[in-house]
Amino acid sequence: MPLYLDPDELRGTPGPHLDLIGAMAFRAAGAAQRLGVFEALLGGPLPVADLAARTGTGPAGLVVLLDALVSFGYLERAPGPAYANSPMAADLLDRRAPWTYAPALAFWQDLLAELWDGLEESVRTGRPQADFYAWLEERPDTLADFQAMLDGMAAARAPLVAEAVPDPGERLLDLGGGHARHSIALCRAHPRLTATVVDLPNALAGGRARVAEAGLGDRVTLLPGDLAEVDLGSGYDTALLFNLCHGFDEAGNRALFKRVAGALRPGGRVLVLESFADLPPGTPAAAEAFVRAFSLNLAVTQGGRIHAFGEVAGWLADAGFGGIERRPLQGTDELLVARLEAP
Ligand SMILES: C[S@@+](CC[C@H](N)C(=O)[O-])C[C@H]1O[C@@H](n2cnc3c(N)ncnc32)[C@H](O)[C@@H]1O
Repeated sequence: MPLYLDPDELRGTPGPHLDLIGAMAFRAAGAAQRLGVFEALLGGPLPVADLAARTGTGPAGLVVLLDALVSFGYLERAPGPAYANSPMAADLLDRRAPWTYAPALAFWQDLLAELWDGLEESVRTGRPQADFYAWLEERPDTLADFQAMLDGMAAARAPLVAEAVPDPGERLLDLGGGHARHSIALCRAHPRLTATVVDLPNALAGGRARVAEAGLGDRVTLLPGDLAEVDLGSGYDTALLFNLCHGFDEAGNRALFKRVAGALRPGGRVLVLESFADLPPGTPAAAEAFVRAFSLNLAVTQGGRIHAFGEVAGWLADAGFGGIERRPLQGTDELLVARLEAP
């Protein structure tokens, strides 16, 4: 969290107390975002009265939130007296910026507030307490934030993926590829390539706009539907399963891999992008903590988890894939590459 402590203060403060502050700071930052505080301050510092008028709040309540946000590192005091976005907030929470944390902050606020209540029950039963994608479909704003967050992360990965896939063939299947970022990048890099992006109907909204913007409507087809049921077609050279397997348990992944094997030509390749539970050596503590927390989130919200590389490789081998390789991509993101063996 943006509460920067020197090593002595860090050692002298109980860990759960720091977590308590972090939980309240996260909630307060989410409230400020929903009220429009960071957005109102993008034009420069404002006195409390002006900020209250801009955000439809009362100055007495607002000032308590603002003072808390100053100590959490989101805001600063400015002459006037006034309040300003801190450099961190100005840098990370501006929705107009090409890379922004704003959709992630909004999405995780909604998710933790609404779906983590059943955590203990999930741990007791080993079953999820929610249907994450059904929940998202009922919340268009949260779904838009979720897809914008994924799109931002994919934009950073797309050049690395394009480099890692120098020969995708001529037909690409992008499963759960909603924002279409990877299909677009690969079609741009390979002029003979066409792509089919499969995702849930409303998750394709961003992809539809992006494909039109890229002028690739004749080469990128968007196929709405549940990937467990929709007709995927056949004869593809390459299938992308990016950040998808973690949403399913073993049975779900085995069923998915069978469908992928049915859609690829013999010798076709599958690329699985994931963080694996057996993390790369030297993974920094914050990155490891996020992967473990994310796995917990998957368990409570959709019955998935972060799987180990060997588990995924084993399910793929059982579905007829061979030549399985593990390649680093970026941070904890890795690629599993496998070929469909001839029957
Ligand atoms: C975590 S996101 C990954 C998105 C993208 N592949 C990436 O790496 O940026 C998972 C995607 O799979 C889609 N998805 C999940 N379950 C699905 C299902 N049963 N049928 C179709 N799409 C699904 C979601 O809507 C979402 O777009």
